[in-house]
Amino acid sequence: MMRFSGKAVLITGVASGLGRAVAQALATEGGRLTLVDRAKEPLDDLVADLHRRGCDAICIVGDVAEERTSKEAIGLTLRHFGKLDILINNAGINPTGSISQTDPATWQQALDVNLKSAYLFCREAIPHMINAGKGVIVNTASIAGQRASTAESVYGVSKAGLIMLTRSIARDYGARGIRANAICPGVLESVMADRLTRMSPDQVLARDQRFAPTVPLGRLGTYEEIAKAILFLASEDASYVSGAQLTVDGGLTA
Ligand SMILES: NC(=O)c1ccc[n+]([C@@H]2O[C@H](COP(=O)([O-])OP(=O)(O)OC[C@H]3O[C@@H](n4cnc5c(N)ncnc54)[C@H](O)[C@@H]3O)[C@@H](O)[C@H]2O)c1
Repeated sequence: MMRFSGKAVLITGVASGLGRAVAQALATEGGRLTLVDRAKEPLDDLVADLHRRGCDAICIVGDVAEERTSKEAIGLTLRHFGKLDILINNAGINPTGSISQTDPATWQQALDVNLKSAYLFCREAIPHMINAGKGVIVNTASIAGQRASTAESVYGVSKAGLIMLTRSIARDYGARGIRANAICPGVLESVMADRLTRMSPDQVLARDQRFAPTVPLGRLGTYEEIAKAILFLASEDASYVSGAQLTVDGGLTA
């Protein structure tokens, strides 16, 4: 299947985990990719790997919470590919703690990286999508944005905001040919990179052992499984899907 032949796709947060799996899957299906992350080395490794596979991929190293990163990334995409068909806002961080355990700097950083970044990239991309008469946006939210998770206070707030940003774009720009959807993964095979730095291997194992039995399907999700759902939303297979929150959690929140 080559659903993305010739399509120009911009993805943020690709240096590891889910974003990397999405980039690899899009390359397999013919996508031409602009990759954005703040981690230079793994980003360069990914681009080199994609080039070896014959994928036309370019990259920008930058902080997605800064306006100039969105301007640079979309400007580069338009210069290199002549268009932007699909925007996937996937970069995120995972601060933990209840509200009283969350200091104002952590609160602000979570909202900047998880929510403001998507606003900035959408704001920059939408005028070009309007000119083209079409465009697709997929935002990586979380089940933590749909119902409260223990000690994930600001993370959940940021993801709930991201879901509403997505719905608001679907409503405001549907008539201009733009679809916008959120993907809400459950608990995945790997703890997010920033949180991993605060956990010991024993804590990671305990997390996996604690969550897996609570999932009706009996296991954590893989990045490849979430990537398949993101590719569905990004593709023409989802031509009538807009403003949706696609939960992919093995039944955890059923
Ligand atoms: N892992 C899970 O269990 C899980 C569950 C639900 C939702 N998600 C969501 O999936 C997305 C990807 O998570 P993941 O598991 O792959 O985590 P990850 O930590 O492996 O990947 C996140 C990527 O975003 C990049 N990034 C972070 N802050 C950035 C910034 N300010 N500017 C540029 N790049 C930045 C990181 O360098 C990294 O490459 C996130 O939005 C996350 O909230 C993850």
